[in-house]
Amino acid sequence: MNILNETFTLNTGAPIPKVGFGTWQIPNGDEAYNSTALALKNGYRHIDTALVYGNEASVGQAIRDSGIARDELFVTTKLPAEIKSADEVFAAFETSMERLGLEYVDLYLIHAPWPWAERGADYRKENGEVWTQMEAIYNTGRAKAIGVSNFVVSDLEALFETAEVIPAVNQIRYFIGNTQEDTVALSKEKGILVQAYSPLATGALLDNPQITAIAEKYGKSVSQISLRFVLQNGLLPLPKSTNEGRIKQNADLDFEISADDMDYLNSLELSI
Ligand code: A2P
Repeated sequence: MNILNETFTLNTGAPIPKVGFGTWQIPNGDEAYNSTALALKNGYRHIDTALVYGNEASVGQAIRDSGIARDELFVTTKLPAEIKSADEVFAAFETSMERLGLEYVDLYLIHAPWPWAERGADYRKENGEVWTQMEAIYNTGRAKAIGVSNFVVSDLEALFETAEVIPAVNQIRYFIGNTQEDTVALSKEKGILVQAYSPLATGALLDNPQITAIAEKYGKSVSQISLRFVLQNGLLPLPKSTNEGRIKQNADLDFEISADDMDYLNSLELSI
């Protein structure tokens, strides 16, 4: 079966395609438009963007031009990490919706628990207030699910203290050698689907000798092994590529890594 037709189920009950197309670092304009169009042409039905990527306009245009029924697509965007004031949340959401040119998104995420320039700073109180606004957006029906990104255990635990809606998703940086086990375990325990961004470590895994050896054994590429690894750990990978051959290859995942090889890959410690 084609992985692009398989789905996980969110805690809202909605299906979500098991592989999404990531668009981080794809510039707005022709590159974002063409790569999103290529992904859709090749069967991807799940597209991930963010206000801060700056490419929502081209991504949205490609989605609208595809002619694919809106209810067959799953579109995610994100509230900028810098927005930690409740009264700015709705305006940021409106900006994303205007740029995308869509009536609704399937998933809206808090991009990070802290502004990027203050990585690790304590914004737990503000995140609780922002989350209340995310819940209000969810209640309008214009975001069919809400979630978080880059949240670790302490961020999640703080959120649970005041949240009325449990996040549907936690999207984290995740790849072989970087598996954030505590965060994944807590998320799963709470019924939160974990998505893996940078599943190829933005390309850094591609020449890794240990993964290359496994890839040769299966007759697959390092990218395919890295994406299967994510799926077999129960996470949803968001590979990014601007090249049609690689876009196709990243969805050609109809094989199984053995339990022994998964143990080995899960035990790898890579300095990336
Ligand atoms: P390109 O866009 O030229 O294909 P990540 O998903 O972890 O962010 O990694 C994305 C990086 O990996 C990009 O540089 C992308 O380059 C590259 N990439 C994506 N898929 C493949 C693939 N199947 N084989 C080789 N490189 C890939």
